[in-house]
Amino acid sequence: MSEHILVEREQGLLTLRLNRLDKKNALTAAMYAGLADALEAAEGDSSVRVVMIAGSADCFTAGNDIVDFLEQPPTGPDSPVFRFMRALMDFSKPVVAAVAGPAVGIGTTLLLHCDLVCVSRDAKLKMPFVNLALCPEFGSSYLLPRLLGHARAAQLLLRGDGFTGEQAGAWGIAGEVLADGAATLERARQAAQELLSLAPSALAVSKRLMKAPYIDELRRVVREEGDVFVGRLSTPEAIEALSAFTQRRQPDFSKFI
Ligand code: COA
Repeated sequence: MSEHILVEREQGLLTLRLNRLDKKNALTAAMYAGLADALEAAEGDSSVRVVMIAGSADCFTAGNDIVDFLEQPPTGPDSPVFRFMRALMDFSKPVVAAVAGPAVGIGTTLLLHCDLVCVSRDAKLKMPFVNLALCPEFGSSYLLPRLLGHARAAQLLLRGDGFTGEQAGAWGIAGEVLADGAATLERARQAAQELLSLAPSALAVSKRLMKAPYIDELRRVVREEGDVFVGRLSTPEAIEALSAFTQRRQPDFSKFI
């Protein structure tokens, strides 16, 4: 297990805590592998009834580690990030997310696959995929327009507009908006505890029924997005964008037609 993923157990609640604060909880392949392993094990462990994904009171995650993207990019379905997101999308039990501070890239995308999402009012969410010359991932190109309509989704996915926890609540990306990070972590824990008192198989069938009408289409989109995303990582546009981040400069796309 990666030292940057803390796995905490409190009765039937399993908490996966992102713990790489010096890099704003940016997610490496090793961290995705740790998350995937923990979720896969939790799926088969009947003593785990609810999972919570959290960061700290002032940082959820800065998204994929960009240095890692350059050094060991995901190559396909067996790559750790794909394993993690597949395990999350297929997870049959309720998943609670506690979001405070930055929730960038996959840090926002993954919320679309959680059940109860608690967010701090001033959390900073963002999906800068096109800004990095990449493309939407793991169903966001399907789920966001469905949730927000095309025009608002285009602002977030094509232009990479940032938005607050308050807005995430108003738009239905988060279910509960809290005053600050500490209140968010506390409320998410409480919400998870509330789920623990409910009948587990009733929760599981209800979650399955909520997703049943669109899950096949979602899986098809996720496969297509994954193919395009992996392909884009080696394009000159993406290498320019990712290198620009590591060199602390703005990317220059003017040479691309
Ligand atoms: N990948 C790799 N390293 C990252 C990172 C990422 N996604 N996000 C932050 N870091 C690193 C920074 O390089 C910095 O490292 P250093 O201390 O060795 O210089 C450290 O984490 C702290 O980040 P910093 O930018 O100084 O923190 P901040 O509070 O000013 O800003 C963010 C926080 C999240 C707004 C900002 O770091 C950011 O925009 N990160 C990139 C987000 C991104 O584009 N993610 C990819 C989405 S696909």
